[in-house]
Amino acid sequence: MSLGTETRSPWVRLSRRRDRAGEYGVSTMQTRSINLRVDELLARMTLEEKVGQMTQVGVLQDEHVEMVRSGAIGSSIVASSAWAGHEDQPDVVVDRLNEWQRLAVQESRLGIPLLMARDVIHGFRTIFPIPLGQAATWSPELVERGAAVAAREAAGVGIHWTFAPMVDIARDPRWGRIAEGYGEDPVLASAMAAAAVRGFQGGDPAAPDRLMACAKHFAAYGASEGGRDYDTVDVSERTLRDVHLPSFRAAVRAGVGTLMSAFHEIGGVPVTANSHLLTGILRREWGFDGLVISDWNAVAELIDHGVARDRRDAARLAVLAGVDVDMCSGCYRDHLAELVRSNDVPAATVDDSVRRILRTKFRLGLFEQPFTDNHRSRTILHCAEHVAAARETAAAGIVLLRNEGGLLPLGKRCSRLVIAGPLAQARRELFGTWTLNGVESDVAAIADCVRQTAPRGMTVTAVGGLVDEICSAARKSDMVVLVVGEHPNRSGEAHSVDQLGLPPGQGELVRTLAALGKPLILVVVSGRPLALTWEAEHVPAILWTFHPGGEGGPAVADALFGRINPSGRLPVTMPRSVGQIPLYYSRKNTGRPPATCRFRSHYIEGSYRPLFPFGFGLSYTRFEYSDLELSAATMSADGQVCVAARVTNVGDRSGDEVVQLYVRDLVGSVTRPVAELKSFRRIRLEPGEGRRVEFVLRPEHLAFWRLDGSWGAEAGEFTVRIGPNAVEGLEGRFTLDNAVAQAE
Ligand code: NOJ
Repeated sequence: MSLGTETRSPWVRLSRRRDRAGEYGVSTMQTRSINLRVDELLARMTLEEKVGQMTQVGVLQDEHVEMVRSGAIGSSIVASSAWAGHEDQPDVVVDRLNEWQRLAVQESRLGIPLLMARDVIHGFRTIFPIPLGQAATWSPELVERGAAVAAREAAGVGIHWTFAPMVDIARDPRWGRIAEGYGEDPVLASAMAAAAVRGFQGGDPAAPDRLMACAKHFAAYGASEGGRDYDTVDVSERTLRDVHLPSFRAAVRAGVGTLMSAFHEIGGVPVTANSHLLTGILRREWGFDGLVISDWNAVAELIDHGVARDRRDAARLAVLAGVDVDMCSGCYRDHLAELVRSNDVPAATVDDSVRRILRTKFRLGLFEQPFTDNHRSRTILHCAEHVAAARETAAAGIVLLRNEGGLLPLGKRCSRLVIAGPLAQARRELFGTWTLNGVESDVAAIADCVRQTAPRGMTVTAVGGLVDEICSAARKSDMVVLVVGEHPNRSGEAHSVDQLGLPPGQGELVRTLAALGKPLILVVVSGRPLALTWEAEHVPAILWTFHPGGEGGPAVADALFGRINPSGRLPVTMPRSVGQIPLYYSRKNTGRPPATCRFRSHYIEGSYRPLFPFGFGLSYTRFEYSDLELSAATMSADGQVCVAARVTNVGDRSGDEVVQLYVRDLVGSVTRPVAELKSFRRIRLEPGEGRRVEFVLRPEHLAFWRLDGSWGAEAGEFTVRIGPNAVEGLEGRFTLDNAVAQAE
């Protein structure tokens, strides 16, 4: 970059500049509201400067210098998005970002600071498990802390805005982006969405250790046909409202500052041109006053969708629908001013968008402090506190799926252990998709951690690649740990698959090892649920981790040796075969439920049941559920029912249980799911300890999109179940005595 700047430390120059930035700064802010300041600034802007605020470019380069000076750029993505985290990116250099900021605030006419954005998805330098793995913790507290750590590190290097959390509901594991979200369920995803927003933004996104969050991809992006990324979505208004919107609503309620509109179409209308979603629901119904950014180049892609004639038309459709910022297509930059001059777009529409953008910049405190202290990041990136947090989250997300004969944890019965498999020595691969700043040397491989931390008296042999070598080592061992699964490039954006078994070659390896007759333990590392049906029948122990991030090695070793007790639970249903997709617990009963007559909803070959249900996960201890109690048989419209059960640790180890509450609305004006998660709680119980776990159900928890197109609960009978997953537990009943309308 050649900005023709002086050679003194930029921070010195920039500090001087803060006085002028104070034109819109602290003292004024104390006396006037942000909205007044926004209007005052807006009144001084030319149409071109307004369009500039609505224009986001990719990595800032020499060609952008004059554009920044003339106010033609409002924000930048500090990364090339083209590979969606599948490739290394240039480092973020604080001084360079400060230089660009200096150009904007000192050399542009109005001195409006730039917004620096980046995809900080599951960690910045300290890499946490992929969001699906974070969801497997069923701990909003851990998700919040993970986002706070990511925010602290990214803000420390000058990033203001992250394109996270992704809160899309995913019920099709073929879809590669299932890795980036919180799974199949609206209530679990809503809890995690709100937690992530709190973690990224804190009480004040302007704080030096916070970022502005962006809930994406609004909406129903995960429902694409065939699980193919970007593909057609055709969901009803009911499915949209009941399944796909609640997690966005939760993010908005938690105060998320921005939203990203999605790439795809819904029922013939691309989201980028969908005013029903972007203006009707988001702004009118929900009162969202933050900004909406398009996805990358999605404005121009309205031409490919076949709803825009050309780039000018695409800009017109997107801005009228409610897209405030055009991410990198250049359509706004090239056509929006002219569209306003020719009265094809009202000037007021542009003003409204610019207000939302300026409001975001004010909320981020950029007018008061546009620059980043270039010393800050040195002490915080990958510091011990952050690494410990990543390790705790990685550990809490490990799901024990099978443990025949108590094979795990590995202990005295094993004195010679072999560890092998394609991911045993993986390091960077443990990060998962969308990792821009993770550093491989921060990561210890699972095999190394197992070797280094094995108990005294146990010899661990790590064997590399060849099947023959693995078999010959295995024959001389007591037990074998095989680390299999997916390379991160097999999931994430544009990385969908049409098979859900282990990647080629790995299934054969597992069968060969299983045939040796040695006790076999599978550690599966993956970006999605896989249909490991054969493995679940023939391999006695399976420990599952969705890409666990930089601390996956020690976390898995701790689980294998019992230093932690696995407590993750599935945030998605595990199917038996790809042919069952979509398969999710919250299905409809149908007129011919699977377990009734011969002509029923099922497969004539194969099962309609999942391999492992949503919410499932074993422990090294056992939990028993008893004493279900309901505080009342009837819930009045303004009342509540407390539902409680006793959960007891009847094993001999301390452990965490995730207690889950499901409801079924037995008769509705429209069909209702056979079970819906309503709440959950993760508790720790010592051996022999029992605890009464209580949930409060209110009419708003029973609300749905009713036949008349309103949101609310309907009077009638409900079953309620407290249990360890979506299909087991203790069941009771209550009645809601009056229908009740709710705000959605
Ligand atoms: C495209 C992806 O869909 C989105 O999630 C991401 O934030 C943008 N590219 C920017 O990198």
